[in-house]
Amino acid sequence: MQNLLVTGGCGFIGANFIRYLLEESDFRGRIINLDALTYAGNPLSLRDLEERLPKRYTFVKEDIRNREGVARILDTHAVDAICHFAAESHVDRSITRPDDFIQTNIIGTYNLLQLARERQQRISLFHHVSTDEVFGSLGDTGFFVETTPYQPNSPYSASKASSDHLVRAYHHTYGLPVTVSNCSNNYGPFQFPEKLIPLMILNALEGKALPVYGDGLNVRDWLFVRDHCTAVWAIMQRGKRGETYNVGGRNEMQNLAVVHAICDLLDEMAPALPGGKRRRELITYVKDRPGHDRRYAIDCGKIEQELGWQPAESFATGIRKTIRWYLDNSAWIQAVRSGDYQKWIKEQYGT
Ligand code: NAD
Ligand code: TYD
Repeated sequence: MQNLLVTGGCGFIGANFIRYLLEESDFRGRIINLDALTYAGNPLSLRDLEERLPKRYTFVKEDIRNREGVARILDTHAVDAICHFAAESHVDRSITRPDDFIQTNIIGTYNLLQLARERQQRISLFHHVSTDEVFGSLGDTGFFVETTPYQPNSPYSASKASSDHLVRAYHHTYGLPVTVSNCSNNYGPFQFPEKLIPLMILNALEGKALPVYGDGLNVRDWLFVRDHCTAVWAIMQRGKRGETYNVGGRNEMQNLAVVHAICDLLDEMAPALPGGKRRRELITYVKDRPGHDRRYAIDCGKIEQELGWQPAESFATGIRKTIRWYLDNSAWIQAVRSGDYQKWIKEQYGT
C-alpha cells in the first residue's frame, strides 16, 4: 500500500483515520483523499496536513457518483489500495431524503468496485467501511456477530447493506481482494453536529433544548473514533481477504444515559448556565424517529481473537476527551455551522 485512496476523508471518521495513519501508525505511503465535500465534508479538518505533509497527503474534490472523474484520480495517482468511507451517513436524513443515500452509498460504491476491478493487477485491497445497522434491531439480549443475517430497517442501513453485498459479490465473483468492517456508533473529534453526541454537547453547552427521541431508552454500542481507526488499519494490514469483521466498544448505553453523562460533564467542565441551571433540565422528549431501531450491540470477538485488536478507550475516558475537543475547537464548530463555510468551499474548490 504505497498510494492509498481514502474516500470520504473530509468526513468525521475519514478525517480521524487519515490523521491516525499519517501521524500515529506505521503506514509510510501516500494518501489521496477523495471527497465530494457534501454538507458533512470539511476540508478544514485536515487543512494542516496539506501544508505539513504535502508529499504524503493530497486532497482531491471528486464525487464517487462520477465514474470518469474517479477513474482519472485512480490512474493519475497510481492508486494501489482503497479505503472506502464516503457515504451519506445520517439515518434521519435518509428518512426524509433517501435519494442521495441510494446514489452515493449504492451506485457510488458500485462505481468504485467496478473501477477497482478494472485495475485489479495494481489494486491490492479494497476495504469497505460499513455499519452494524445492516443487522437490524436487537431485543433486550444478544449480540450481532459476523454471520447475523442482514435485516436493515432504515433507508440508510438498507443502502449500506446493499453496498456490503456488492463488495462481497465482487470478491466472490471477480476475486477482488476486499475486507469489510461493520462498526457500531462512533463518537469523538470532528463529528458533524447532527449526530446524537456532538448535537447534545453543543446544545447543552449553549443552554438549548436536548431533543431525546421517544422514551430515550434505545441502546447503542459506543466506540471512540480512534479505536475504529485502529481497527480498520488492523483489518487492512492483517485481515483475511474476503472476510468481514465486526467492530464495537463493548459500551452499550441507553440514549438517556449518554445524554446524562454529557450534561454532567459539561456542568463540571464548561461555564455554568445562567441561574446555575443543571444541564439535565434541558432534556426534552420529542416525537420518535420512524422505524427507530431499539438496540444495537456488537460481539467483536473475531477481530479481538484473530487480529489482536482492542479498543483503548472506555466511554468514560472517550466522552471526556470528546467534550474537551468540542470545548477547545470553537473555530471548527463555527465553520461547519455557518453558511459562509459552504461559500468558502466553493471559492476554494469550485462547485
Ligand atoms: P460523515 O457523514 O461524517 O462523512 C461522510 C464523508 O463522505 C463526507 O466527507 C462527505 O463529503 C463524503 N461524501 C458523501 N457523499 C460523497 C460522494 N458522493 N462522493 C464523495 N464523497 C462523498 O460520515 P462518517 O460518520 O465519517 O462515516 C464514514 C463511514 O463510516 C460511512 O461509510 C458510514 O456508513 C460508516 N460508519 C459510520 C459510523 C458512525 O457512527 N458515524 C459507524 C459505522 C460505520
Ligand atoms: P444517531 O447519532 O443519529 O446515530 P444512529 O441513528 O445511526 O444510531 O442517533 C443515535 C441515537 O440517538 C439513536 O437512537 C437516535 C437518538 N437521537 C436522539 O434521541 N436525539 C437526536 O437529536 C439524535 C440526532 C439522535
